[in-house]
Order: sequence, then structure tokens, then C-alpha cells
Amino acid sequence: NENKLQDIIGHCKEYGFVFQSSEIYDGLSAVYDYGQYGSELKKNIRDYWWKSMTQMHENIVGIDAAIFMHPTVWKASGHVDNFSDPMIDNKESKKRYRVDHLIEGHAETLPEADAKALLDEMDRLLAADDFSGLKDLIIKHKMKGQPNDSNEWTDVRQFNLMFDTEMGAVASDNSDDNKVYLRPETAQGIFVNFLNVQKTGRMKVPFGIAQTGKAFRNEIVARGFIFRMREFEQMEMQFFVRPGTQKEWYEYWKEARMKWHLSLGIPAEHYRFHDHVKLAHYADAACDIEYDFPMGFKEVEGVHSRTDFDLKSHQQFSGKKMQYFDNDLDENGKPYGNYVPYVIETSIGLDRAVMMVLSEAYELQDLSTEEKKDDRVVLKFPPMLAPIKLAILPLTKKDGLPEIARELMKECMPLFRCFYEEKDAIGKRYRRQDAIGTPFCITVDHQTKEDQTVTIRYRDSMEQERIPLSSVKQLVLDKIQM
Ligand code: GAP
Repeated sequence: NENKLQDIIGHCKEYGFVFQSSEIYDGLSAVYDYGQYGSELKKNIRDYWWKSMTQMHENIVGIDAAIFMHPTVWKASGHVDNFSDPMIDNKESKKRYRVDHLIEGHAETLPEADAKALLDEMDRLLAADDFSGLKDLIIKHKMKGQPNDSNEWTDVRQFNLMFDTEMGAVASDNSDDNKVYLRPETAQGIFVNFLNVQKTGRMKVPFGIAQTGKAFRNEIVARGFIFRMREFEQMEMQFFVRPGTQKEWYEYWKEARMKWHLSLGIPAEHYRFHDHVKLAHYADAACDIEYDFPMGFKEVEGVHSRTDFDLKSHQQFSGKKMQYFDNDLDENGKPYGNYVPYVIETSIGLDRAVMMVLSEAYELQDLSTEEKKDDRVVLKFPPMLAPIKLAILPLTKKDGLPEIARELMKECMPLFRCFYEEKDAIGKRYRRQDAIGTPFCITVDHQTKEDQTVTIRYRDSMEQERIPLSSVKQLVLDKIQM
């Protein structure tokens, strides 16, 4: 489905959803900017996530932590030592590859059974940190069409994915003291604020802290449009639970997050769970929620049982207690007392969610009749996520029609995003709204002046009907409710 991916990328550019960063300078690899409609779409997805995680859960609150954090945070979290991917360089082509991406890419060219065997072997070697085994595998399979010659490849090595920079007056002695990292995940901002929020919010375990924000990773192979970026946005929630209950909460959040995905109107067969074989340094169980992207099933969200790894580690590195006093009673009638909570984490990439919603919504429809060839691109967004909710279109520029349309604009603009346009034939205007996914168009015509009705045109069915002008605002409000 490479074609569909290319079509979506082209459409996103043409209609102001996503631009390559610094395009006039030929772009910056794996960095993207959201345009006028993309930023609205992204914001709506973020708002929907935020509402379902915080407003809809009495025991989950939100925070907004800084991107820069004390450098010791990343020592405690394990990112300085462990947040790296095995990579390999090809001496011939002078290209650097992430080992797993290289092998996965090669597997895609193989028959299904061979691909599975190769990927299983890769998982086994990765789990065992067997770097020479990985190199042998790459050589044996002649990846990238290289000859069977081990001189083509360097050894496999670890490459840390964190970006760093200097803070304050730049040290001339090049010491590491001023080094700060751009956070590679938002989660640590939640862990270090665990007690601040618990105490000031009088939160009782189990409770959660949610956050959305930018994260940065120096990905070696950055590909797949906004699927893998070097600067991206995460929407994460850490749920703090009593030790021993993490299994149930892990299952609970797996199911709850899948329900959220289905509530976007995306059919269940476009999703699957993928349980991790190789667990991250902090996890005792982990799975991905995978969506069927145009490039195939890929991770959009992770649900991780992170144990007490992070809080314990911050306790150790900071010397500050990260404990919670639980005065609920156990089966012997005694308070559970002091403990470091366990954590279940849900972590979804906002940009991947945007790409998922775009892939799901994008449709190229053949509307040809016997008389005439015709087609349209329509983005069938759920109305609550659509960048523009309502287009208001006077049929002509005269006879008082724009005045009536402007009145309707004034009424609706404070409540939801509207778009006003009086140029071009009405059919053309409808098609432009289809292409940006506007669910409702209102046309004001001469009949409006007589009977105060307008035409509403529905994006998906392209059906039209007459409704009272006075009912438009409420009709749209009812349909876009999150
Ligand atoms: N706090 C846990 C954590 O960060 P992760 O699986 O590394 O876990 C979580 O990342 C989510 O962030 C992924 O499921 C993905 O949606 C998104 N993500 C990770 N790296 C990304 C990248 N380079 N570009 C876009 N999204 C990314």
C-alpha cells in the first residue's frame, strides 16, 4: 500500500495538514510542521485524549512539566545507560542502520514463513544482546543486496538516542556539568512530581497523572512520514497502584485504551495487540497497540507495567522518599502502610495518532457516471476531530445572501471552528471541504430569504436537505460533542 501512503503525504501537503520542516532549505530529516488544518486535527485528538483521561476519571489529574530536567533524572531513569539501539554501519554505502529496522526491512521482502523465522531469530538475538550474532545474521542474509562479505559491515554497537545541549553560560572546559538532555519521554516529568501532585491533590492510590508534550529522540532510521520523527509529541499517563495489584491494572488499562481507540470509530480489525518479548529496562510486562497503517501493522501506543523501577530509582538518586502511606486495611485489618507504588503506564504518540486518523479517514472515491468521469478525495474524520466543523457558503456574492451567511458565522464562530467562502461554484467549494474533512456545509440561497431555511450538505453521503436556519448551530453542536 505504498501508493496510499504517498497519496496521503501528498494530500497532507497540498491541503495544509503537514509540511516538511524548513522546506525552503530542503527540509530537515524526520522533522515536520503541522499546517493550518493539521494543527487543528492534532489539537482535537489531544483534547479528546485529555478529556477521556482526566475529565472522565475522578482519580486522574494532569500536569505540564518542562522539557528540560535535571541531568540526574536521566541517570536515574536508566536512559543514559540503556536508551540506545543497536546499530551497524555499511562501509560500502556509508549508511548507518538500526539493526532491527534493517532486518525488519529485509523481512518484508521475504515469503511470510521465512520472514517470521528471521524476525523470531532477530528477537532472540536482541533479547540476548548478542551483537555478533546479529551481525552474522545481517551478513548471512545479504541485506541491502551486499555480497556475503563481512568486511562490508562494521560491528554492531549501541547508539544513545538522547539529544543533549548546554544550559546557562556555555562552559569553555567542555565539562559534562552543564549538559542537559531534551527529554526522550514525558513520563519522567510525572515521576519526579509524583509526591507534589499526590500531596497537594490529596490523591489516594490508585490514581493517575496525565501529561502531553514534546519528546525528542535521535532516531537513526527515521522514516514513514510522521510515524517516526526526531521531535514528536507524546500523551502519557502513569497510574500509581498498590504493589501486587499491577497485573489487574495492566489488564484494565490494556482494555480501556483499546476502547478509546474503538471510540474513534475505527473498526476492531484495524487493531491488534503485540506483547513484547524483549522488555524495556523498567518493565515487567508490556504490549503495543498496533494499528494497520498503510505500511502495515505498526505500534501506535504502548501499555507498560513499569513496576516501582522509576520511583525507587529516583528515591535512590535524589535521597528523597518516594513513598505513599496507604491507610486502607489489608485482609488482616491492618493498614497497608508505607510503600513505593507500582506504575502502569499508557503512552501514545500524538503524531502517530494523527497519522492513524488520517489513514483511516482518507478515501479516494470514484464518482463517475455514464455521462461524466468524476472522483473526489474525502477525509471522513469523526466530526469531533474534524479541523473545520462547519462551512458556511452563500450561493452567490449578492442579493443579501452573504449578509445572512455572515450572521450565521457570528452565531457559530464562538462555539466551533467555521469556514466562510463565497467564491467559486458551489460544487467546487463542497469538494474542497471534503478534502479537508469538513463534516457539514451550509448553503444560503435565495429561498433562505423567503422561508428562513438553508441547505445542509453531509460530507460522507453527499446528501442534502433543507433545515431551518435557526437549527444549524444546535445540530452541529450535537454532532461534534466529544
Ligand atoms: N514512556 C514510555 C515510552 O516512551 P515508547 O514505546 O518508547 O514508550 C511511546 O514510546 C509512544 O511514543 C510510541 O507508542 C509511539 O506512538 C510514540 N513514539 C515513540 N518514538 C516516536 C518517534 N520517533 N516518532 C513518533 N512517535 C514516537
